[in-house]
Amino acid sequence: MSIQLGDTAPNFTQQSTEGEIRFHDWLGDSWGVLFSHPKNFTPVCTTELGAAAKLKPEFDKRNVKILGLSVDPLENHEAWSKDIEETQGAKLNFPLLADADKKVSNLYGMIHPNASDTMTVRSVFIIGPDKKVKLTITYPASTGRNFDEVLRVIDSLQLTAKHKVATPVNWKDGQDCIIVPAVTDEEATTLFPKGFKKLKPYLRTTPQPNK
Ligand code: BEZ
Repeated sequence: MSIQLGDTAPNFTQQSTEGEIRFHDWLGDSWGVLFSHPKNFTPVCTTELGAAAKLKPEFDKRNVKILGLSVDPLENHEAWSKDIEETQGAKLNFPLLADADKKVSNLYGMIHPNASDTMTVRSVFIIGPDKKVKLTITYPASTGRNFDEVLRVIDSLQLTAKHKVATPVNWKDGQDCIIVPAVTDEEATTLFPKGFKKLKPYLRTTPQPNK
């Protein structure tokens, strides 16, 4: 059975470029992004890891730890990180799991045998401070991820964890939000002092409450 939203993120201990990682302990009270890349010394993966390294300050700002993974051995990660720095202009500044025994890949269903039985697909798991899985996305090896989208989802998840709102299509931090249907108009008046617009009884918008 694949990992579903709301499941506890499986715990593991595995080697990484920053030493052994005991996943739940390593996460502590932070949010986490665990993502797999199919193979070291491949072009798309090289660009992705460079992009993730450049965005690390944005993840830090949101109290999110990022953790990469491939099924390559540790020595390989260390050699490849020099290429990432040289070609992408960014030094790896987060750990990469060396999952040569496929322990974590199998635990998280990152190997899709009908795509490849040796490499992982590009999986993304966003994990909350409660260790529950909040989002999963799967991309094929041929498509590099959009890490700005990962940050956008984190903004939405962190907002909706604290306020009784949801975020509409293509929402970005700072834009109007949707009041969840369970909130009555009367409650909305108290909960959202900036006011709200009622387009339909089920479609009410309000300025982002934490801005
Ligand atoms: C890449 O990162 O470029 C890649 C990796 C595995 C298969 C195809 C592309």
